[in-house]
Amino acid sequence: MGEILALDRAAFPGEPTWGPENFLAELPGKWALSFLAQEPSELVGFSISSTPPERTAHLHRIAVATDRRGSGIGRRLIEETLAALAPLPIDRYTLEVPDAQRASGFYDALGFRRIVRADEIEDYLARRGKTAKRDAYLGPRADRRIYVRELAR
Ligand SMILES: CC(C)(COP(=O)(O)OP(=O)(O)OC[C@H]1O[C@@H](n2cnc3c(N)ncnc32)[C@H](O)[C@@H]1OP(=O)(O)O)[C@@H](O)C(=O)NCCC(=O)NCCS
Repeated sequence: MGEILALDRAAFPGEPTWGPENFLAELPGKWALSFLAQEPSELVGFSISSTPPERTAHLHRIAVATDRRGSGIGRRLIEETLAALAPLPIDRYTLEVPDAQRASGFYDALGFRRIVRADEIEDYLARRGKTAKRDAYLGPRADRRIYVRELAR
């Protein structure tokens, strides 16, 4: 647990980090859809996903060690998750980017598309039970981006 907490702190400097309670929280499908990227002597990445209701999977968090970025580890973590999702009755894989620039190019490279239409954003918020926070996602003050990858069925 110490290694994953240290990687998380380094990956999100100046932001709220996750504690053991976040990593260990029980969520539907989480243990089959979350991955560690392990090199012989160190943890170099992780991804945490789950399957909330409504045939959707969601990426909660992903990080790669600073000195190992750009070598395909993030791609591999997402591809492992997509492979684990393939046999499940899941139509879409979603995630949120908390500010304008963060990691958008990474998700573009991995075949996600940004949701911009208000009705799609509303649908996403309803599926995730987040309608009370819609100001953060819709309108001129919106600062969060939502990405989706539709899964072939
Ligand atoms: C985002 C993150 C997980 C990417 O991991 P990574 O191992 O460096 O990514 P990869 O090397 O697998 O890159 C996969 C593809 O995304 C592209 N990519 C990665 N980061 C990118 C960026 N910041 N901007 C544009 N493209 C990017 C790569 O060029 C690569 O494209 P290709 O396979 O077509 O050549 C990593 O940078 C990280 O941990 N960032 C800090 C934590 C964070 O921001 N997490 C996401 C929160 S929303």
